[in-house]
Amino acid sequence: MKHTPFGAERIARTSAELIGSTPLLELTRTGSGARLLLKLENFNPTGSCKVRMAREMILAAEREGKLKPGGRIVEPTSGNTGLGLALAAIERGYRFTAVVDGHATRDKLRAMQAMGAELVFVEGQGDKPSTIERRRIAGEIARTTGAFWPDQHHNPNNNRGYAGLAAELLRDLETDVDYLVGAVGTGGTLCGTVAELRRLGSRVTSIGVEPVGSIIFGGPPGPYRQTGAGAPGGFEVGPNVDHSLIDEGLTVTDIDAFTAARVVARRTGLLLGGTAGAAIHVALRRLALVEPGSTVVVLACDAGEKYLDTVFDDAWLRERHLLNEPAHQRLHRLFMAFDDSRRLVSQPLRAAVG
Ligand SMILES: Cc1ncc(COP(=O)(O)O)c(C=O)c1O
Repeated sequence: MKHTPFGAERIARTSAELIGSTPLLELTRTGSGARLLLKLENFNPTGSCKVRMAREMILAAEREGKLKPGGRIVEPTSGNTGLGLALAAIERGYRFTAVVDGHATRDKLRAMQAMGAELVFVEGQGDKPSTIERRRIAGEIARTTGAFWPDQHHNPNNNRGYAGLAAELLRDLETDVDYLVGAVGTGGTLCGTVAELRRLGSRVTSIGVEPVGSIIFGGPPGPYRQTGAGAPGGFEVGPNVDHSLIDEGLTVTDIDAFTAARVVARRTGLLLGGTAGAAIHVALRRLALVEPGSTVVVLACDAGEKYLDTVFDDAWLRERHLLNEPAHQRLHRLFMAFDDSRRLVSQPLRAAVG
């Protein structure tokens, strides 16, 4: 057989074909062999896991006859769902309108516009989320124009969009996922992944994470700066947050969430968003307590490049009293403790061999 320097061609023909098969990165491991893995959903087109479910909701709407060729889509979104819908709209030939507010990061809005989305701004809340008002306006646009409103909080195809993510986890690991940690907003990412993992036979324990001040797990309402996850006071949490699929629900402060994202950036060179930081904060603490050999996976929902003006901007953080040196030190000490625990295990082995 003639040998050539060329391989089999692997070329995507649409951006949608690039969705999924995101990599796993081991962030750290303990001397007892427990490891913390990051499922890097920032490697998806649009830099977020939400593109998976955006596509699923649009394909299902087509199947169900809710979207006609050349039709219009409208959705209230803090950005990542909007980016996913903008991509699906390009691919499938629709017009897309995102109902947004000042809580979304500027770069997400600009990226949506760059992809041809139309933005409708909800005013009057400063940089607090206007989740309730955004829904009202989106509903009005859908009613008056006949646009299709996927409604990610109530659409079961949001959760179903993560079946592929669950299959990838089991495909890429030799063991079960013992703990899955993910930020919760609509609930789709965590609950959709857990539902499919369990259907496939996994015995995963799931840990949902929301910002302190978000009300999904029953805490008191208050302000928070993590975008994408959580629900503000007064918001009616939809059925995609399926509490039967969430074994523990925990809250994380903005300081701890952003600190984790910043420390991970310095350790790995990867920029992850604030909600990934919140999940990593929880997972690092849990790693110290889990059984030897456990696999802890964090769903890193989006890319940190979207937060260069916020999470990764010292001045922005300082103005909001979110730049906190003791929190950085605590996290460094935790990483060092894991490093030390590995050294303690490997030293006697090396002595025995050498
Ligand atoms: C950055 C980020 N993290 C977490 C979430 C929460 O994901 P879900 O709505 O699937 O619960 C979102 C949702 O938009 C997000 O954009």
